[in-house]
Amino acid sequence: MSIYPSESSNPLLAQIDQAKLEWETTVDALPQIVCLMNKGGYILRANRAVERWGYGRVQEVIGRALHELMHPRCNDPDCALNVFWCKAWSAVMAGQPAEAEIDDVQSNRCLYMQVNPLRHVRQTELNGLNSFAAVIVHDVTERKRVEQERERLLVEVRADREQLQALSRRMLHVQEEERRSIARELHDDIGQDLTAVKINLQTAEPLAQAALAYIEDSIRIVERTLQQIRNLSLELRPSMLDDLGLIPALRWYTNRAAQRAGLEIEFLNHLGDIRLPPEIETTCFRVVQAALTNTIKHAQAKHVSICLRRNNGEVSLIIRDDGVGFDVNAARQAALAGASLGILSMEERVSLVGGRINIESTLGHGTEIRALFPHSESSP
Ligand SMILES: Nc1ncnc2c1ncn2[C@@H]1O[C@H](COP(=O)(O)OP(=O)(O)OP(=O)(O)O)[C@@H](O)[C@H]1O
Ligand SMILES: [Mg+2]
Ligand SMILES: [Zn+2]
Repeated sequence: MSIYPSESSNPLLAQIDQAKLEWETTVDALPQIVCLMNKGGYILRANRAVERWGYGRVQEVIGRALHELMHPRCNDPDCALNVFWCKAWSAVMAGQPAEAEIDDVQSNRCLYMQVNPLRHVRQTELNGLNSFAAVIVHDVTERKRVEQERERLLVEVRADREQLQALSRRMLHVQEEERRSIARELHDDIGQDLTAVKINLQTAEPLAQAALAYIEDSIRIVERTLQQIRNLSLELRPSMLDDLGLIPALRWYTNRAAQRAGLEIEFLNHLGDIRLPPEIETTCFRVVQAALTNTIKHAQAKHVSICLRRNNGEVSLIIRDDGVGFDVNAARQAALAGASLGILSMEERVSLVGGRINIESTLGHGTEIRALFPHSESSP
């Protein structure tokens, strides 16, 4: 703003000069352009930002219209700045403020413009006071660029994440299919062949006295292998899960785990004998399998409870052990660094079927895994 220092000997005038100087210095220091407009839409005063923005000296811009100042030689009928200005000016004439963000192609800047009508408390007393509205122009190019960059990165990350999820889903599906077919092959083909060998050996037994010891040993080996194959097949993917459903499969699996590990496992099913969508049944089964394996491997627990129930359109699966507990965050960090797969794949599986999972563990007090799955009453 123009400064006209006057060496007044009148102390009151000197005070006014001082206040005016302070105020002008303050406004000049602002990075935004600040203009005072008269009722005709012409600049009465402007701060020194107009000089820094390259619009000419402060004295030269007085009396110019804003659009003409910022866009000399602009005759674009759709000029965004001009369109905004016309709209803003009608608003101001009606006593309303106006503001907008404008992509100014001419200056290659992104501008945030505010136009505010001035309300003079003592307008009627101050004859000749011409000021009518204040305009503030901010340069938000950099902020806008950062925002756009952030938006672009977000879109990219989202797309990557979706792609990864699709890949995981596909991978899990293929894995289950593969397990199903290996389990079936082990059970049906290899198992049947071995059973045939066993019958042959048993038939030959009375005929071959000299080779009796070998034959008896072979029968034992075949029996053991058959048992191993049966276990492997069940562990890979119990056919029960497809044929009878989650509840019988879990009942069988937990009984077996309890016997083998000498654990007390309580299975509480409050779902009745309903069938859930196949991908949710598989996920529940795999979560229990991973959780029980962890309990047996790490927890030194005596008692485990597994509970399935339904409430508020969700199926909840809760697995609780009374073992040593662990630091869940530390384990997850280690897993992300490649130390293990169990917990991560549990979380991934649950989220892929639209569920949520929470693991809580207290050292010395055991672990609780809580998984929630969406389930409408009408779904199978
Ligand atoms: N129920 C539990 N009780 C105590 N510690 C546990 C329990 N479950 C997990 N942990 C701890 O969390 C760690 C991570 O578990 P996670 O299942 O991811 O890996 P893991 O069992 O070691 O290996 P894997 O990849 O074969 O599952 C375990 O190494 C163990 O220290
Ligand atoms: Mg594990
Ligand atoms: Zn223009």
